[in-house]
Amino acid sequence: MSLILGIESTCDETGAAIVKDGRVVQSNVVASQVALHERYRGVVPEIASRAHIENILPVIRESLTSAGYEFTDLDAIAVAHRPGLIGSLFIGVTTAKTLAWSLAKPLIGVDHVHAHLYSVVLDSDVHPEFPAVGVVVSGGHTALYDVKSWTEIELIGSTIDDAVGEAYDKVSAILGLGYPGGPVIDRLAQEGVANAIRFPRSLLGRESLDFSFSGLKTAVLYHVRGVPGRDDPPIDLNDQSLRNIAASFQAACVDTLLTKMKRALRHTRGRSVIVGGGVSANSGLRNALPSLGVPIYLPTFAYCTDNAAMTAGLAHVLFERRRFSDLDLDAITSSQFAFRK
Ligand code: KG4
Ligand code: ZN
Repeated sequence: MSLILGIESTCDETGAAIVKDGRVVQSNVVASQVALHERYRGVVPEIASRAHIENILPVIRESLTSAGYEFTDLDAIAVAHRPGLIGSLFIGVTTAKTLAWSLAKPLIGVDHVHAHLYSVVLDSDVHPEFPAVGVVVSGGHTALYDVKSWTEIELIGSTIDDAVGEAYDKVSAILGLGYPGGPVIDRLAQEGVANAIRFPRSLLGRESLDFSFSGLKTAVLYHVRGVPGRDDPPIDLNDQSLRNIAASFQAACVDTLLTKMKRALRHTRGRSVIVGGGVSANSGLRNALPSLGVPIYLPTFAYCTDNAAMTAGLAHVLFERRRFSDLDLDAITSSQFAFRK
């Protein structure tokens, strides 16, 4: 049994959540900074850390009051302490340490990417079959994992350039559709023709489990603005051409992700697939996943993008094993097992 406060500040969302026994979400408060970063078409680290400072205490207070708890009811304070933007991480980590010390409660540092995988069990009673292939697809990460248990998660492939969510955001900027790009491109893609344009699928060799999305992003740019040095006229971006570009781009992303997941399943003899991160909300990806032929675990929509409930949830597993962190817990920009064995 546990009641854990989770704190999230790895990138541009300030989150606090109270989770009971690692699954039952009692509150999940997220202060989004999208409006602050929109005009820059991406996250500005300095702006993000300043906004975390302003948001963090009210967000934590709201997570407690909306769930009807006091600080004294908590069993532990959990924080996502890696990976992320260093200035953003510092705010969550410092707040968590201060609370843990002043309340004399255990502190539990959690890897944010591992927590994205764990998000599939929140508010549910599912128990994924291990070993599982873990896939984290977000604005900052595109990575494959061999998940032997919730505490044994090994990186087996990652992007060598852009993350898939980043590619969505950049393509959205090219098309003048705003930030973040994922939801709007996904919506347009559903009304477009997926084979209207044949965009490249970068597979990086026959057995590679790594990803590359920058070539795809450039292909969309050249399609829209013309290839440099050639006299291609820029194309007319009307409603239908936007839908077709969105659908064809989405098809290339989904094909690439599915191909790599199939390879990873072969490679690890995985028995199921666990998908987390902002792009796991994508309708094209969700529709394609059953073709893998193994059980698929996806988070409910509220837990796809960055949140603190997944942090508090995974912390419960560590709490049960009494794997507590010291008060010198560091904020670390890279993920655990960032280097393959
Ligand atoms: O997990 P997340 O909130 O933050 C990171 O840790 O990066 O993911 C945000 C990313 C953004 O790039 C956003 O465009 C993308 O997830 N995203 C989507 C969809 N919803 C959000 N991408 C594709 N389809 C969606 N429906
Ligand atoms: Zn994330």
